[in-house]
Amino acid sequence: MAPFAPNLPARSVAAPRIVVVGPGAMGSLLAACLMRARANVWLLDHNPTRAQGLARTGIRIDEPGLRWHIRLPVCTDVRHHDPADWVFFCVKAYDTPCAARHVRPVIRDHTTLVSFQNGIGNAERLATLLGRRLPLLCAATAHGATLIRPGYVRHAGRGWTLMAPWNPAAHQRVRAALRLLRAAGWPARAVSDARSLLWSKLVVNAAINPVTAIAGVRNGALLDRADLNAIAFQAAREAQQVARALKVRLLFPDAAQHVRRVCSRTRDNLSSMLQDVRLGRRTEIEAINGVVVAYARRMGIPVPVNRWLLKTVRALGRSGGAVRQVGKTPCRATAVSTPPRRHLPRALRQSVQLIWTSKAVEANSKDAFRPKTRAAPNR
Ligand SMILES: NC(=O)c1ccc[n+]([C@@H]2O[C@H](COP(=O)([O-])OP(=O)(O)OC[C@H]3O[C@@H](n4cnc5c(N)ncnc54)[C@H](OP(=O)(O)O)[C@@H]3O)[C@@H](O)[C@H]2O)c1
Repeated sequence: MAPFAPNLPARSVAAPRIVVVGPGAMGSLLAACLMRARANVWLLDHNPTRAQGLARTGIRIDEPGLRWHIRLPVCTDVRHHDPADWVFFCVKAYDTPCAARHVRPVIRDHTTLVSFQNGIGNAERLATLLGRRLPLLCAATAHGATLIRPGYVRHAGRGWTLMAPWNPAAHQRVRAALRLLRAAGWPARAVSDARSLLWSKLVVNAAINPVTAIAGVRNGALLDRADLNAIAFQAAREAQQVARALKVRLLFPDAAQHVRRVCSRTRDNLSSMLQDVRLGRRTEIEAINGVVVAYARRMGIPVPVNRWLLKTVRALGRSGGAVRQVGKTPCRATAVSTPPRRHLPRALRQSVQLIWTSKAVEANSKDAFRPKTRAAPNR
């Protein structure tokens, strides 16, 4: 299929050619910011109808105190395109293999791959599918973007984007990547160890995402409610223990304290997992708590809280799917049965019971989706 290219001002032919894969919250925001900086950027979708619409209407970004709109080229098939200098992956972790196959025709030896994804396993998959010699960078961003509908993004959380080379070939691409992001208005800096970067983000996500998704609350509730923070902080500690056993040095000394800081910075945010569960969409739980549980099992480390969170979010996902088919009622935590709690530490059993049975779950769920302030997913 021919690319959908709206009538846009000419870009310099010398400008590096950037493909952003995934027109969701993160991909649309990143592509729009790059386009605003006059980069030679294309957005790659896998849905032709949506791609046509996006090319026609462009992307609208709502930020605190600012609304802007930009048009950019969108395509669904890159087979007849010029090779890409950069490919930015902005798809969910479970879509990585499809996205890699989709963008493969524009990949050459000089192409640099950048994964903006959460979870562990994306870099390994990209390297396996696209070539271990290609420069591959991992990025962890504190930007928070929510997709209101295709082509309309609410950009609430701003913050640093950290980048690390995944393989030796990527070392010399770090500075150029930082330049691209900074030109797009994203504060960015380099860190040396990609595993340390990814695991640091994982520890935070493993604590905040599933607990907010299960309880149906904004991130701030993890600070305000003792039952919730007991579970979230314990999940973070367990994940930190697994990272330690893997000899991964986290970017912070105390996981629970770091989660507390992130929650207070992102008080009004709705975690992406909460949004996914409520909309009946697949979550990234397997790439987050699923990874903690899998490594822990291999190394004989007990992680009962992560295991409980994994099972519970899986159950919510199944329930969400079923509910979605029946009517468009959002998934409710109370709609699924509680997974076993017998392996949880005694101190946490009561918290779990509270989350599960509390009438506040329903109230909080509704509250979480009331657009009282600008909110973006915490990632
Ligand atoms: N949003 C944030 O604030 C944020 C912040 C930090 C990190 N992240 C991470 O960034 C990644 C993307 O998150 P997101 O919030 O942007 O997710 P999202 O809104 O679900 O967007 C992902 C997009 O990728 C599309 N896609 C899937 N397979 C594709 C393919 N083969 N080719 C082209 N497009 C494809 C999806 O299409 P369908 O709709 O058809 O599935 C969807 O539009 C995740 O790993 C997330 O954890 C997000």
